[in-house]
Amino acid sequence: MILAGRRVLLGVSGGIASYKSCTIARRLTEAGAVVDVVLTPSAAEFVRPVTFEALTGRPVLVSLWEPGQSLAHVHLARDAELAVVAPATANLIARAALGLADDLLSACLLARTGPVLLAPAMNDRMFAHPATQENLATLEKRGWEIVGPAVGALAEGPSDLPGRMVEPEEVLAHIERLLRSSGSRLRGKRVLVTAGATREPIDPVRVLSNRSSGRMGYAVAAAAFARGADVVLVSGPTALEAPVGIAVTPVETTEDLRRAVARELKRADVLVMAAAPSDFRPRAPAGAKRPRGEGALKLELEPTDDVLASTVKGRPKNLVAVGFALEVGGGLDRAREKLMGKQLDFIVHNDAAEPGAGFEVDTNRVTIIARGGEVTNLPLLSKRDVAERILDAVERVL
Ligand code: CTP
Repeated sequence: MILAGRRVLLGVSGGIASYKSCTIARRLTEAGAVVDVVLTPSAAEFVRPVTFEALTGRPVLVSLWEPGQSLAHVHLARDAELAVVAPATANLIARAALGLADDLLSACLLARTGPVLLAPAMNDRMFAHPATQENLATLEKRGWEIVGPAVGALAEGPSDLPGRMVEPEEVLAHIERLLRSSGSRLRGKRVLVTAGATREPIDPVRVLSNRSSGRMGYAVAAAAFARGADVVLVSGPTALEAPVGIAVTPVETTEDLRRAVARELKRADVLVMAAAPSDFRPRAPAGAKRPRGEGALKLELEPTDDVLASTVKGRPKNLVAVGFALEVGGGLDRAREKLMGKQLDFIVHNDAAEPGAGFEVDTNRVTIIARGGEVTNLPLLSKRDVAERILDAVERVL
């Protein structure tokens, strides 16, 4: 219930993308937010108010003229911590830019002083029209945030130009960031996260790697974004999608990872080293694919650099550094040694032998050990919740 009790005004204007707003309303409500939905009369032609009432458990308004609701626009605009319009049609954007208040939603927006997030959705030519572009520029200048539109299929067919509303997950990630960053010490901080396994070439086709999926690091990156941080995610090859709002720097080998971390560390306030770099690499990778007919293959392996140990020396003075210690069967003492040896502020210990912890699962059970000796044992949690607890610890020392 990460958004427990947070008040959101969700405005929906009349476009086919309004079906996606149902998911937004539902997911916000599930996260504990109190969601007031206001539909424009044309949005109510696409999705009936009763749908949103069922999803949010709250009354939904369309008209300025409901008996007993004559000041609804003032109250809704004032009481919401965040106003979101998704989808925002070209017409709604034009009316907002002009300051028109000819329906309940536009009246709410005119009465609004706090933050507003728009997710435009329209035909690609309507979006490209100078009128729409100028209106959006006006709203941005007033401090409104705009997410999207994306490129992709429109109601009228495929398009390779922006117009389509971004997916609900993307709107939700921005809503969460706008709501959570104001109370976070990570707001505006630069957080460098590494994730996933690295791979070392055996020959041009084969690699030496490990079972890390990258999920833990991606969860930390998404949680840091939600707290308002500028996140740099350096990732080994993974099947995961880049988290919303985060550009991923892809790396292949442990040496690539070391170089990327050394480069990014100079500007970082926080380093979370969730990657599982390959500790060994073939001493002499073959230049060509070795045919299997040649029989048994002997590989000589040499250790790679310890990225943390080699980059931490030149680290910025106030950097908060978090490492992970993956042990198989116990290993808390080894984790403590790694904490001190690698000069970290925290080490997150997890035991890959425990059910639900370790590789390729969405959960983890970790113990966070602070440099000062404080030990926090966490229960089995989703990796996203583990990420939140790690960042809570980071915020306490920032
Ligand atoms: N790490 C690193 N460079 C490596 C290996 C690990 O920076 N070549 C980092 C990991 O990202 C993690 C921490 O060091 O944050 C501990 O990783 P772990 O694999 O548990 O420890 P190692 O130092 O590799 O020790 P060992 O494999 O002997 O347990």
